[in-house]
Amino acid sequence: MKTPIFMGIPQHRMLTVFVVIAMLAVALVTTPVVAQNTLVPAGETSPYLATAFPDRIVLTATADPARAQTVNWRTRGSVDQAYAQITRATGSPGLHLNAKNISGETRPLDAHNGLAHHHHVTFTGLEPDTLYAYRVRGDNTWSEWFQFRTAKDDFSPHAAIYFGDAQNAVKSHFSRVIREAYSTAPRAQVMVHAGDLVNAGAEDNHDDEWGEWFDAGSFINSMLVNVAVAGNHEHIREQNGPRILMPQWPAHFRFPANGPAPLQNTVYYMDYQGVRYIGLDSQQALQDEALLRLQAEWLRGVLGNNPNRWTVVSYHHPMFSVSLGRDNPPLREHWQPVFDEFNVDLVLQGHDHTYGRGENVATGASGQMSGSGPMYVVSVSGPKMYMLAEHNHDAMDRVGEDVQLFQVMEFLEDRIVYQARTATGELYDAFDIERADDGSKRIIDRRPDTPVSLCSNPEERTGSSCWGGGSFVRPDL
Ligand SMILES: [Fe+2]
Repeated sequence: MKTPIFMGIPQHRMLTVFVVIAMLAVALVTTPVVAQNTLVPAGETSPYLATAFPDRIVLTATADPARAQTVNWRTRGSVDQAYAQITRATGSPGLHLNAKNISGETRPLDAHNGLAHHHHVTFTGLEPDTLYAYRVRGDNTWSEWFQFRTAKDDFSPHAAIYFGDAQNAVKSHFSRVIREAYSTAPRAQVMVHAGDLVNAGAEDNHDDEWGEWFDAGSFINSMLVNVAVAGNHEHIREQNGPRILMPQWPAHFRFPANGPAPLQNTVYYMDYQGVRYIGLDSQQALQDEALLRLQAEWLRGVLGNNPNRWTVVSYHHPMFSVSLGRDNPPLREHWQPVFDEFNVDLVLQGHDHTYGRGENVATGASGQMSGSGPMYVVSVSGPKMYMLAEHNHDAMDRVGEDVQLFQVMEFLEDRIVYQARTATGELYDAFDIERADDGSKRIIDRRPDTPVSLCSNPEERTGSSCWGGGSFVRPDL
């Protein structure tokens, strides 16, 4: 018998066709509309394609910043060799005459903007406290000469800058913050990024976001030593499994290999002129208890053998959440006792898209410095803004909503001078941590007598959100 045919499809295949059409329709309806998170509209050629010219040039922490400095950069895939030059900087333009050629490692990354090669060179055998000039190689091209100063061998005062999440509309809105920070503290030597540098939503164009992050920081990234930790947004979800570190992280950043083996490049430390900077991976800690415990154990070793005057720890998820509906109890169970035991001074965090600073926050007894234990800070540098949990108005010493911030910290012999400033450079919060000769510490609160910043968005605020962040780059806004 002949099979009946409808529109060229045999009748016995009709059910299959209907099922496929129905599935496609459901997929179309349920696929989320991709929020544009960069200044690159869909359909436009990205300004962040890898080319013959080296870009995304960033200095990253090393285990011995008095004698070694790592530089990372990107080119198009035609450059197979990581190749840089370094020399002592002088006023003469003849920098190339005595420059040493140094080669390193190259790794390919086929991201949304096509195949790129990411290069890493570590300059070693450097002299402490010395100004160097370096440049990196593209495809028959060079970068400009950049300058950086190696760390001094022993304790010596220095300044560092700290940023909470940049994450959304990074070129549009984070660039003014990092540039204001650099204008405020142009001789700072270290920059701490407390995670969620980019958004990297499942469907977004990650490479444009990274392009914008490097564009916003431009030459500042190439002159200061960067200490960055990975947030939840640098860990991407594959199918329904746990989040894994996105390949852009190790492509863009090479950090000291002194962390625990499974968390190389997200857990590490650097001793810089008498300050131990420690980076932890709170995303991995919160999704895998073994990695939470492993970091606590590693931390105990790193803090137990610490000859530095000051200790700063940075990771992404707050020990004491500032925003509405957020809490990370496992960090308090496993990490806080180690911080207290070894007298960590400052803990720099992100994730909550608000500002909050306090000590002994859990008991609401902030300002009652116990003689040990850290000051906890949560901050945000990008435009995504959440709402404060009401109780934190009392529990914390200074809070804020709807304010883009950067922080400058000066590490002096007897005190840390901390200041949080808004994107416009206005002082928003300040304190000193003063240490006496017997090791006891006290906080000197220097917060300005200005109102707490509260959400100003009359339209978009919903529940715990003040500003979504990504919508700031809509061409029609
Ligand atoms: Fe986050």
